[in-house]
Amino acid sequence: MMERIKTGVIGLDDVLGGGFIPNSVNVLLGSAGVGKTIISFQYLLKGIEEGDKCIFISFDMGEHEVIKHTKAIGWGEIADYISEGKLSINKFYAENVSYVNNDLLNILTGESELNTRIVIDSFTPMISSLNMESRNDVNWFFNKLRELGTTLLTVEEPMNGDFGDASVTLPIFLSDTVIHLKNIGYGEAFSRGLRVIKHRGSWHAEGVFPYRILDGIGVLVEGTDLIEEEKEVVDLEEVLQEMNMKREDIPESLIRRLEKLAESGNPGARDAIMEILKKVS
Ligand SMILES: Nc1ncnc2c1ncn2[C@@H]1O[C@H](COP(=O)(O)OP(=O)(O)OP(=O)(O)O)[C@@H](O)[C@H]1O
Ligand SMILES: [Mg+2]
Repeated sequence: MMERIKTGVIGLDDVLGGGFIPNSVNVLLGSAGVGKTIISFQYLLKGIEEGDKCIFISFDMGEHEVIKHTKAIGWGEIADYISEGKLSINKFYAENVSYVNNDLLNILTGESELNTRIVIDSFTPMISSLNMESRNDVNWFFNKLRELGTTLLTVEEPMNGDFGDASVTLPIFLSDTVIHLKNIGYGEAFSRGLRVIKHRGSWHAEGVFPYRILDGIGVLVEGTDLIEEEKEVVDLEEVLQEMNMKREDIPESLIRRLEKLAESGNPGARDAIMEILKKVS
């Protein structure tokens, strides 16, 4: 199994099949107040715990605001991490980031170490300030981020739910992973839910998972005990026997693919293999 970058959010790693893929760009998509900034700091706190270099970029929060915001949840240690140089806080002014590769990249390149966690909270003012032409550079910028470390970008979902705007579609299409956070209702037992829209190169759990925002903990993803913990490895030989089929009857290329699926531990792999074998017999 490939090494993963732990998100620092209890339950989320289970949903993501272990965490983020190293050197990927990951998007948290959601409207105001869903917990994007809180998750961002859980991700950075986990990084500091693991000895990773952590960089926070935003357009509205400097050190003072970051310390205030995180202290309210119960993470007073953030102030120490900043002064110890374990967490770098950088406030930008969106109108100055008219081109993605200027000061911002210098900061990122200068601060990055072997294992670096980068957060841009939020990416929306940055992408909104770009003219149409320089939007092509977003892909280039994402590739740069992938070279530097593992990035978490927050993207603001328009209140009217319009996903058609380039400020939403570009990061969704160009990133590796997208997690959609939503306030589902008012006053219900589970009024918040998240789902993985995509997770390139990895299995992920399907469906909506309820989550809560708690003092001290931050975001807690629930319902993950329903995700098959014990990944079942399928014995292909045994399945073939059960279906009265012989290896020789199946094209070599398909056997190789089925073996890969059998080893994967994907939930439902056994049923899928039987389904495919039925179709070729
Ligand atoms: N200590 C706390 N206990 C419980 N809930 C909290 C606590 N602190 C914050 N929250 C919840 O978290 C929400 C804010 O989370 P956060 O700032 O991460 O949202 P966001 O998605 O970044 O929002 P924005 O788009 O405004 O930046 C609040 O609306 C509140 O519901
Ligand atoms: Mg925020």
